[in-house]
Amino acid sequence: MNKVIAVDGPSGSGKSSVSKAVGKKLGFLHVDSGALYRIMTYLAIKEGVDTTSPEAVQTVAEKCDIELKVEDGAIKYYIQGRTLGDELRTPEINANASYVARVKEVRDKITELLRSMTKFGDIIVEGRDITTVVFPDTPARFFLTASAEARAARRQKEEVEKGIAAQSAEEVKNSLLMRDKIDSSRKFAPLRKADGVIEIDSSNMTLEESIEAMLSSLPSDYVA
Ligand code: DC
Repeated sequence: MNKVIAVDGPSGSGKSSVSKAVGKKLGFLHVDSGALYRIMTYLAIKEGVDTTSPEAVQTVAEKCDIELKVEDGAIKYYIQGRTLGDELRTPEINANASYVARVKEVRDKITELLRSMTKFGDIIVEGRDITTVVFPDTPARFFLTASAEARAARRQKEEVEKGIAAQSAEEVKNSLLMRDKIDSSRKFAPLRKADGVIEIDSSNMTLEESIEAMLSSLPSDYVA
């Protein structure tokens, strides 16, 4: 039975960087579940669908066919033979993804896809409902968090580095807090800290310290 490390937390909490590094160190494939919600959002926008309408978004989920491939230590997603990168990280996708992620049919489809990924090997999966809904029974579950200021500063730095920064620090923070609010208050699979998960608050930690905190809290058979 392949192993799963489940990592949840709000935007900018360091989930991605920590999960990628821990995955690389242990030979676990990295799985970015947020990218799947972003792909659904991208397709909805491309088709001119009103993302605030669950009925309209449901039709996108029903039609969408995502192919999985293992590449460079991660599971990558292909739509009609094409993989999507920075197109998934625009302010427009950021603003609409939380609405798409509220829709039950979208969540069910992505949950099923994520559970199927254990067939590829040991995986480290990051998201919002991985510890609570997708893999609630795995012995390695983490909740990463950080202050809103630290999270907004990280996100803005990333956007500047990628050359897609169109927003001020204040705008980035407001957009992030708005998404957190929708992600935490939705009806299906809201972001929350589950009982028994290990919390890592990275507000005042370097990336290396956060990675070390996760590695040192894993069950012994994960690091052997
Ligand atoms: O982690 P991210 O910013 O790429 O996530 C994009 C959106 O998808 C965000 O609104 C949260 C949502 N999401 C979710 O609802 N459940 C997950 N497991 C992962 C992401």
